[in-house]
Amino acid sequence: MITTAWWASEDFWRKATIWITAFMVVVLIVLTYDSLSQISAGTERVPAYSAINNRIYYRQDKSRNMPVPVIGDPAPLFGKILSETEAEALVEKGKITTQAKNCMGCHTILGNGAYFAPDLTKAWLDPAWGSEGTREQLMMRFLLDPPANSRGYGSKRRMPNLGITEEEARGIIAFLKWMSTIDTNGFPRNFTPIAQEGDR
Ligand code: HEC
Repeated sequence: MITTAWWASEDFWRKATIWITAFMVVVLIVLTYDSLSQISAGTERVPAYSAINNRIYYRQDKSRNMPVPVIGDPAPLFGKILSETEAEALVEKGKITTQAKNCMGCHTILGNGAYFAPDLTKAWLDPAWGSEGTREQLMMRFLLDPPANSRGYGSKRRMPNLGITEEEARGIIAFLKWMSTIDTNGFPRNFTPIAQEGDR
């Protein structure tokens, strides 16, 4: 007679599969809610949309050994303080535009996309915009006509004219500014912010 050990029986493995699947479904649900609570705007690492009303800079955090975003004094985008709802609508407009125009076909946004062109996650802080005062205007000019305002970054790659309207460009700029407030654990690595703590 052939006897099968309990752990080798079909019945045991059938039950084990069902229990493990059920358990992992519960784990997945818990992790989903846990992630949502950490990636929603207005939480510790992802500031509220109205953060675009303030100056954004980075400070080296010694214990984490990486630069972390700081939301500073009021510095309204396009000179106008926005309510939370207005700020959300503007950032949303920018986010939708980046999706509609497929910016991620060339750029990376929060880890998604391509590396043909510079990472946009912290593009708001790129020192190439000159000073903080001129940044909004230069960004606007660049987005409306990239070939004429190209910087190239030492490569021959150029951003094409994507037919971005002024309203869409405002949204994109708000989206880029808001994205720079997100604590991304120092990602992208070694980016150089436009201004450090204390400078203007
Ligand atoms: C066909 C590829 C391509 C697409 C699509 C594209 N870009 Fe670019 N972009 C580039 C290249 C190349 C550069 C850098 C060279 C230059 O200055 O033209 C650049 C530069 C930029 C910069 C300056 C980056 C910095 O660090 O200061 C911004 C901002 C930008 N793009 C935003 C966008 C947005 C927003 C979209 C979508 C609406 C977009 N790009 C779509 C190729 C692209």
